[in-house]
Amino acid sequence: MSETVVSTRQPAQSSSIGSIRSQQNSQFGLENVANLVTPYAVRVAATLRLADHITDGATDVPTLAQRCGANPKALRRLLVHLASYDVFTERADGGYDVGPVGQQLRSDHPMSMRVLLDLDSFSGKADLSLSGLLESVRTGEPVYPAQHGKPYWEDLVSSPAMGDSFETALDTIVNFSSRSLLRGYDWSTVKRIVDVGGGSGAPLIRLLKKYEHLQATLVDFPQMIERARRNFEAAGVADRASVTPGSYFDPLPPGADAYLLSEVVDQESEENAVRILRRCAEAAGDTGKVMLLQTPVTKSNRAVMTALDLRMLTSVGGQELSVEQYRELFAKAGLKLDTTYPASNITTFSVMLFVCSAA
Ligand SMILES: C[S@@+](CC[C@H](N)C(=O)[O-])C[C@H]1O[C@@H](n2cnc3c(N)ncnc32)[C@H](O)[C@@H]1O
Repeated sequence: MSETVVSTRQPAQSSSIGSIRSQQNSQFGLENVANLVTPYAVRVAATLRLADHITDGATDVPTLAQRCGANPKALRRLLVHLASYDVFTERADGGYDVGPVGQQLRSDHPMSMRVLLDLDSFSGKADLSLSGLLESVRTGEPVYPAQHGKPYWEDLVSSPAMGDSFETALDTIVNFSSRSLLRGYDWSTVKRIVDVGGGSGAPLIRLLKKYEHLQATLVDFPQMIERARRNFEAAGVADRASVTPGSYFDPLPPGADAYLLSEVVDQESEENAVRILRRCAEAAGDTGKVMLLQTPVTKSNRAVMTALDLRMLTSVGGQELSVEQYRELFAKAGLKLDTTYPASNITTFSVMLFVCSAA
């Protein structure tokens, strides 16, 4: 039998057609990654709480429209589009159920994303600043202040919808990131901790509940401090947790053993991040530690973290960094990185505790 030699080379034309086809078929094809309609439609569904209303029994479009204050014809057009992505599914009677992809739009889902996608929430509103990405890429500055008349954090503390959703979401996020705070580090060596930009107090509450010898001070804007004070009382740790209203760009309460910056440094420009770290370093002196709770950019989380990085750019002017870039940032503030404690082995957001001391 003679051997048949099969050439593996394809004619140039068919190879490029093949590559266009494979791009079109790929979930990362340009049309898919450039699609603005579906993400907006999902966020409108979240804001109108469509999945909650449907779960409560409002499956026909006129009732659904009445419950969420929408135009019935326009609402049907939204549902028809989202049904092609299985966010909702059309029923035999012409109404809609929540589809497999839409389950996380339900508020009662254990991994609910409803609040994060709600266009009035702290997160949905920040995401809308991406419409100014072109301007941010041109200038390197956030567009949120020009879009909303004030910087993001000022807007958040003066808006109950943003503030309440922020607190709810932080609680879930902190639940997850506090693993790295609680695990690894020997907290018995810390008597007093200052949580800088401590928000509603969720990370501190976890620490104070576990370590009864700890005394804590939380620094944040006055409106945020009130939330933290209420939460400390409700958690039964108010006798060991004081609050100091103020800005982290100003001098911090001195002499504590640890200064914690949890999810703060990535919310600021490099210049401002160094200013905050310098404030912590000066208050910590030669003996205190400066600690960061952050998710660094790694090879495995690059797609998620670079998306977050662009959100930071347009909304608050912040940035997401790798461990090496954090190390360089600490050096600019006169700090050296002693140790990192990897958080959890739960993949995407591998939060780390960075522990620094005076260089
Ligand atoms: C992403 S939140 C992190 C909250 C908290 N550390 C946590 O991990 O749950 C950032 C916090 O920084 C606070 N913040 C923003 N600018 C600030 C400033 N200039 N001075 C003090 N706190 C500020 C915000 O109010 C918010 O609570």
